[in-house]
Amino acid sequence: MKAPIGILGAMAVEVEAILAAMDLREVQEHSSMKFHSGTLSGVECVVAQCSVGKVNSALSAQVLADFYHPRAILNIGVAGGVGPQVRIGDVVIARACVEHDCDSSALGYSMGMLDLPGREEPVAELPCDAHLSQMLLEGAEKLYSGVHFGVIASGDQFVADREKGKWLYDTFGALACEMEGGSIAHACLINQIPCAVLRTISDNANDDSKVDFPTFAAQSAQKAQTLLQSVIRSL
Ligand code: ADE
Repeated sequence: MKAPIGILGAMAVEVEAILAAMDLREVQEHSSMKFHSGTLSGVECVVAQCSVGKVNSALSAQVLADFYHPRAILNIGVAGGVGPQVRIGDVVIARACVEHDCDSSALGYSMGMLDLPGREEPVAELPCDAHLSQMLLEGAEKLYSGVHFGVIASGDQFVADREKGKWLYDTFGALACEMEGGSIAHACLINQIPCAVLRTISDNANDDSKVDFPTFAAQSAQKAQTLLQSVIRSL
């Protein structure tokens, strides 16, 4: 059997359509998370809801790596849009992720700069796999307008402040912010697993986000899941 594709989403709404569409074979629990093995459009997958935040999502990626040896890990879900052209309902696919809240500036590092095990030099960006991202991008452009490719900024913060959103764009060139992609890309880099991050915009990381997020999260999350199902066979 071909190695599975791991699919991680933080909230139920971000994975439920994928779980519903799977031919489920087995559910195993590791680190208090449920890992659903089976096929999606005939492709072997392991899907888990990892809960919100960088630590939960990094742990889930490590469990996937250790127990399921996936050939790729995909993170899907919603995000706040932070670039000036990024609107609610748009799709953002990560070229790379950053961990925007990692701050060792007192030691002379720029914001987001990370030390990684086994590396001499710190890294600023956590790269996503070029082939996987390209397949997602082509699939997205067939289905939707408003598709963007660039940096996604992750941190343990729901951003609902226009100034913070602007800072993420100015500092990292980020097009979207969320709370898991960077840590999943981080775990994938350490474990040498190709990864991709696919997000649809639920709000604009500004003062309206507290209202926009609950209003648009479900329909935006559904768009990401529809897109993933449409491209999974090409990954
Ligand atoms: N996920 C969706 N919207 C977000 C926001 N504004 N900040 C962080 N994560 C998000």
